Amino acid sequence: MEKHFTVRLEPLGKKIRVPAGTPLKDILFSYGVEFPCGSKALCGGCRIKVLEGEVSVDTSHRRALEKLGLSDPWRLACRSQVTGDVVLEIGQFDTFILADSTPFRFRPRAGYGIAFDIGTTTLVAQLVNLQSGEVVAVETGVNPQARYGGDVISRIEYAVLQGGADELTRLIREKFSKMTRRLLCKVKEVPPEKILVAGNTVMHHLFCGHDLTPMAAYPFETSHGGECCFTAGELGLPADHTEIVFLPILGSFVGSDILAGILATGMAESEQPVVLVDLGTNGEIVVGNREHILCASTAAGPAFEGTNIRMGMRATTGAISSVMVENGTVRNHIIGNEQARGICGSGLIDAIAVFLEKGDIDLGGRVTTEDERLHLTPQVYLTQKDVRELQLAKSAIASGLQILMEEMGISAGEVKNVFISGAFGTFINLENTRRIGLLKFPEEKIIKMGNTALLGTKMALFEEEEVIRDILEKTVHLSLESNPRFQDIFAENMIFT
Ligand code: FES
Repeated sequence: MEKHFTVRLEPLGKKIRVPAGTPLKDILFSYGVEFPCGSKALCGGCRIKVLEGEVSVDTSHRRALEKLGLSDPWRLACRSQVTGDVVLEIGQFDTFILADSTPFRFRPRAGYGIAFDIGTTTLVAQLVNLQSGEVVAVETGVNPQARYGGDVISRIEYAVLQGGADELTRLIREKFSKMTRRLLCKVKEVPPEKILVAGNTVMHHLFCGHDLTPMAAYPFETSHGGECCFTAGELGLPADHTEIVFLPILGSFVGSDILAGILATGMAESEQPVVLVDLGTNGEIVVGNREHILCASTAAGPAFEGTNIRMGMRATTGAISSVMVENGTVRNHIIGNEQARGICGSGLIDAIAVFLEKGDIDLGGRVTTEDERLHLTPQVYLTQKDVRELQLAKSAIASGLQILMEEMGISAGEVKNVFISGAFGTFINLENTRRIGLLKFPEEKIIKMGNTALLGTKMALFEEEEVIRDILEKTVHLSLESNPRFQDIFAENMIFT
């Protein structure tokens, strides 16, 4: 009888029984892992970490690993087979994790610090030499809570409705300790003085062990917004004198990741108004200057993540990630140069801009062609419903921005810069965000800033506590839905202008 083994994929927590000798490539492909160099063992993009069990290597595999600077327990999935029960961590999920290497000004201090960004999907921590500002080591990982849902709403549901809050707290604290321990190994003699942690409101509550029940229903307010301090021992860490602080949040669904973003953009010191936008299922928007800062969150829906779209998918192998017109012909860029399997958020924005340009969609968002399917390839197409989903998402962001700017009493022309944070923002085509009316600012004002949460948290390691207090005092959280004009503004922004 054919022998079978169990493969467990972390942090997904997926267990699969497969016949002995099954190429790992076949298994991982179905989980969205891509093979960028076409399995030639050249790029390292398919690397996996063997957490338990054995994945054997032959001489050519070993040589390829060495060339890529990878040692045990790393393997290349494109060169590996299943020969026993194994637990694997998929390294490629790390490549979607935005670390940060933006230079910034700082006042040197003695010792080391750790900046930790806890995202809903990904985690990244940097160990920083506070004297030189150098990032000494980086740890990345996937949020282990992801097995209970991909977004904050499903985490709230699991915590509140299914009594899973303790489990979610345990998972994230364990992962935090594991990643921090690895960083602490680099500076055994001089343990860091401080570890600063930033995350959205739900991550803040789950990490700190606060009740999420108030966040599960209108008005989504919470009384646990302040910073939360731990000793190293409380989180199972050996560095006795290290203080661990989860930075305070700014309001319901506007977390300390955005507080750190305000620090990273220099908004609280800018004379001219500055805008910060984090695009995602829950879009966060901040408008402000050194006098006054307004922030809000808006439910943009999952269209930007390729969800709720007929052929939508994550930005992974086979996803159309950008669309353009060259000499009158529509061209797609497909991740991994494979056959297109679907479309991700950045591709969706481009595709809508292109179809608007061609007149296949009118300004109201109606598909004008006889066939309701707008084809990008013979297999991949958009539907009328997809166009509507994108309209809802872009209107949520555009309306939030409009309301905050009206409240501040400023026009788009007075805004000095618009900073876009987050992984999705890094890949979008700015011209097309203007074309569809998502961001109505001149392109030269828009700056893709990457992981502002991590950058701001790192900057906070060098600052006195007053800097954070100053931002908190200047910042007011607004509920967009309670604005009497919200519905009208939302309807106006549904139109493609
Ligand atoms: S796909 Fe490039 S190394 Fe495996």
